[in-house]
Amino acid sequence: MGQTTRQQGEAMTATLEDVRQFWTNNLNGMKFLENFPESADQFWAASAFRYKYHVHLPRLFDRIAAAHPGARLLEIGCGMGDDTAQWAKRGIQVTAIDLTEPAVACTKERLRLCGLEATVQQGNAEALAFADGSFDLVYSFGVLHHSPDTPRTIDEVWRVLKPGGRALIMLYNRKSLNYVVHRLLHYPFDGSREDPCPVEHTYTQEQIRRMFRKFKSCAIEVDYLFGTGYGAVNDLIPKGLHQYLGRRIGWHLMIEAVR
Ligand SMILES: C[S@@+](CC[C@H](N)C(=O)[O-])C[C@H]1O[C@@H](n2cnc3c(N)ncnc32)[C@H](O)[C@@H]1O
Repeated sequence: MGQTTRQQGEAMTATLEDVRQFWTNNLNGMKFLENFPESADQFWAASAFRYKYHVHLPRLFDRIAAAHPGARLLEIGCGMGDDTAQWAKRGIQVTAIDLTEPAVACTKERLRLCGLEATVQQGNAEALAFADGSFDLVYSFGVLHHSPDTPRTIDEVWRVLKPGGRALIMLYNRKSLNYVVHRLLHYPFDGSREDPCPVEHTYTQEQIRRMFRKFKSCAIEVDYLFGTGYGAVNDLIPKGLHQYLGRRIGWHLMIEAVR
């Protein structure tokens, strides 16, 4: 259904173990940091860099936390735990999972240093270890398109949500400027030419609506013109223009679906 960078002439043979190996060696966000954070201040500073570019995220955290105080939220693919800490800080009861051990260890350490509470454990989005209807909210940012069987992960999100529960998911947008740039440069979306991310599906809004067809409703917004990796180019573009273009040809499809 989606497209991966390996589709250019190569069979899509990447397995979940390939994905685990890649993200074990490439803890997301570390490439933008000189050293591994060792204090709460250093973790918050790393987050400040993230939200300087991901400006749509704090808006989402505020809106959802205000509308669902104390909700039970499952985060799938917590990475370094930036967003886990943001949900926990806003009083949400978070259970966070990730495929890799370094991500779980890093998220636990961040929460400990920052004095925040959440349950963090290893887990696989394609086979969630939770009973049907366990959560009010499921949040997953930039994760499910990296799993070999993305449609299966969406079915799992549906299953663990309570009836009326809400999925908040970001998937990569095929109809975006970032997609075109990376394809022209023959550069993977994550990783490098030498060490490309093994699974990088991208989607159109039509494909997403099909994957979310079991949900009662599915709203999609486009945001985020460039990836963080564009560095100074990001800062050269006036904020208003950035937002205008981001809303049309941005890289993030922000999905909000009600079960
Ligand atoms: C691009 S990172 C995003 C991390 C975090 N959400 C963020 O925005 O910084 C992708 C993460 O998804 C995790 N991941 C990939 N496939 C997964 C799966 N099937 N189940 C759980 N986590 C998975 C990886 O281990 C990695 O930490």
